[in-house]
Amino acid sequence: MALVRIPETRRTIGDKQAIAEYLASFGIEYEQWMPRNSVAADAPAARILEAYEKEIEELKARGGYVTADVIDVNASTPGLDAMLARFSREHWHEEDEVRFIIQGHGLFHIHSQNGQVIAIEVEAGDLIRVPRGTWHWFDLCSDRQIRAIRLFQDMAGWTPYYTDSGIAQKFQPVCFGVSYIPQHNLEAGQ
Ligand SMILES: [Fe+2]
Repeated sequence: MALVRIPETRRTIGDKQAIAEYLASFGIEYEQWMPRNSVAADAPAARILEAYEKEIEELKARGGYVTADVIDVNASTPGLDAMLARFSREHWHEEDEVRFIIQGHGLFHIHSQNGQVIAIEVEAGDLIRVPRGTWHWFDLCSDRQIRAIRLFQDMAGWTPYYTDSGIAQKFQPVCFGVSYIPQHNLEAGQ
């Protein structure tokens, strides 16, 4: 289950429907997927893609995606820090950023056109679609692991274009995790 935080107003949203509605107002799609067949999070990539085939095909039809793969990143990945440094600065792509999380955690920061910055923590079961052109940056959480299905309209569009705004340095790349936030502090709706 994802967790959305708006650092400027110290607002936290932890309810699935409220998250989906809030993110939709920024053009970002949020859903939770349940596997049709139970599949182990560490199963081979081909098994993962097979288990989610129906959802992947629906997304391809909806977003014009032509290919899907599984990205695997963890603390033992060679060159991990250099890889993360490419995405932890504000950037945008000519391609939607589509991720369905299988294992681990990730932290997206979205810099909206109205100037607001939103932090979105994602974990297993979360699907996020960030439209092309959206300013954003990405960090791993303290487990330094993420395994996710990615969908692409065109692999060539995956290049990050940097804004060089330096804004990412003003926000702590720290995940809290929905389980660490007392339930009574979570906002259920708008
Ligand atoms: Fe990105």
